[in-house]
Amino acid sequence: MDPAASVIELTLESSLKHMEMVEEIARRVSKAAGFGSEDEFQIELAVHETVINAIAHGNQEDPSKKVWLQFRISDDRLEIHVRDQGSGFDLSKVPDPLAEANLLNISGRGMFLVQQFMDETQVVTSGGRGTEVIMIKRRKPQTQPHQGGKDREPEGHRKTS
Ligand SMILES: Nc1ncnc2c1ncn2[C@@H]1O[C@H](COP(=O)(O)OP(=O)(O)OP(=O)(O)O)[C@@H](O)[C@H]1O
Ligand SMILES: [Mg+2]
Repeated sequence: MDPAASVIELTLESSLKHMEMVEEIARRVSKAAGFGSEDEFQIELAVHETVINAIAHGNQEDPSKKVWLQFRISDDRLEIHVRDQGSGFDLSKVPDPLAEANLLNISGRGMFLVQQFMDETQVVTSGGRGTEVIMIKRRKPQTQPHQGGKDREPEGHRKTS
């Protein structure tokens, strides 16, 4: 964890009624962290899937239980933590939705998409603190703007005739 990171934190009740707002916040944070629109979409989807899982699977939609969502923006990455009060799950044992036997299943794709879209995904369960899904999206270095081709001479070294 980067101690110099900028932190945005939310506490949510275990209800789907605030999902639109959560997604809007995820989009705004992604933009503020410098991601482009494709990354923004992927981050929003990852937050959507993990918060719904935290509410439904983790907290079993128990209104007395909470979900904590934290965004940590640093120079090179956005780190997102989604914590619930459930007993957790083993990410390596989540069935592969691309396996032939699962292709027709209408659910079971959330964590697969999260792992496709984020650079790192980890699940940490600890007795007292519930279960935390931690996701990292790295900012890719900007590609250099086109300089006009390899034959172009650097500024200041142009020949004068
Ligand atoms: N926060 C969580 N707490 C406990 N179990 C979880 C949690 N998140 C995911 N799981 C487990 O991992 C499984 C896979 O999650 P995933 O989001 O991929 O599929 P799903 O929620 O079953 O269906 P979908 O997201 O496609 O509607 C879930 O069925 C559940 O068993
Ligand atoms: Mg799900």
